[in-house]
Amino acid sequence: MNSLLDSPVQRTKHAQGAASNKISVDRLRQLHRFAGLTLAVFIGLHLINHLFALVSIAQHIKVMDAFRLIYRNPLGEALLLLAIMVQVPSGIMLVRRKGWRGLPLAERAQVASGGYLAFFLVAHVFAVMMGRYFFHVDTNFYFASAVLFSPVWLFYVVYYGLSVVSVFTHVASIHYQKMLPRTSPQRAQTQALAIVGIGVVITVLILLVFSGAVYEIRIPPAYKWW
Ligand code: HEM
Repeated sequence: MNSLLDSPVQRTKHAQGAASNKISVDRLRQLHRFAGLTLAVFIGLHLINHLFALVSIAQHIKVMDAFRLIYRNPLGEALLLLAIMVQVPSGIMLVRRKGWRGLPLAERAQVASGGYLAFFLVAHVFAVMMGRYFFHVDTNFYFASAVLFSPVWLFYVVYYGLSVVSVFTHVASIHYQKMLPRTSPQRAQTQALAIVGIGVVITVLILLVFSGAVYEIRIPPAYKWW
């Protein structure tokens, strides 16, 4: 049977198509990485901010006020929202190409954590924007903590908890794949598990302090929607 690519012209066209497809996937990866690094800066500051709640609510709010100078000025906010608008669709497109079946565990962990982060980022930023522009409240410590005192607190424990664990799982799986060619699989695995472990500790600390297990929290009436 004659192959569709029998003629030299068709073969050249096919090769060009494959090359341009490769370039666009590489571009997509580059975009995803760049937006991811931008987001990582914010997420780093954001989680450090939440850990300051272990000191006191006043300290958390003070640190948030300082960090807001970076991410709440028009340029910082535009950059952050643009990064999310690039990160979420580019991640979904990369996953659609990669698929799920037959993937090694590290890549499955990367896809699953990335999928949750895509959902969480959209839902979480929407909630913050609603709080800010519709309910006209300061989206500070109390905004995040209030939901953990609501009748649906258990949902929020899982929702918040998975978000922080997913950030660290995503980083750990990328780190594991990058380290594999450079070190032994055991060492790469130990380092990846250590990253996830740090994430779990940070998650538990944040959830404990925001849920009132570390000190008493009195939610102001403006934040009670139930
Ligand atoms: C327990 C976990 C978390 C809590 C309690 C929490 C809480 C908050 C709060 C209170 C704000 C409002 C900040 C402000 O008004 O300055 C906020 C904003 C935001 N959070 Fe989180 N967050 C958590 C985890 C995450 C994670 C894991 C991500 C990213 C994957 C994330 C991404 C964002 C983004 C993008 C904003 C919008 C910032 C802005 O434009 O003002 N958060 N979060």
